[in-house]
Order: sequence, then structure tokens, then C-alpha cells
Amino acid sequence: MKATIDREGCIGCGLCATTCPAVFEMDDEGLAKVIADPIPDDAFAAAQEARDGCPVSVISIE
Ligand code: F3S
Repeated sequence: MKATIDREGCIGCGLCATTCPAVFEMDDEGLAKVIADPIPDDAFAAAQEARDGCPVSVISIE
């Protein structure tokens, strides 16, 4: 499974990087980026939580 972020819509709230730091990180522009592809098995639940918690719903997992 792979996580993707529609960075055009990211508002930089940081929730994803806090919830699942194994997969998401904030970059120099203050936007989230994906740092693990595929999603490690032990981070999958947290990645789903990050997707569900993103306030602008720009994270996809497929
Ligand atoms: Fe951006 Fe959503 Fe993460 S707004 S910082 S992708 S929780």
C-alpha cells in the first residue's frame, strides 16, 4: 500500500506527521510529504489514522 498527498490542498496542519511520522514528514515549505513507500506494515494503522484525520482530506492510501 502506498500513501499519496495532494500537496496543492495541504494546509500544513502537521497532523499526519505527528500521527504517523514513519510515513509523513513536513518539508521546508511547510507542507507534508511522503517519506516511506510502500507504507511499512507496522505503520499502516497510523497511516490510516492520519488519512482519516487530515482536515482537508488530501491523503490517499491505495
Ligand atoms: Fe497537510 Fe493534511 Fe498532513 S493538511 S500536513 S496532509 S494532515
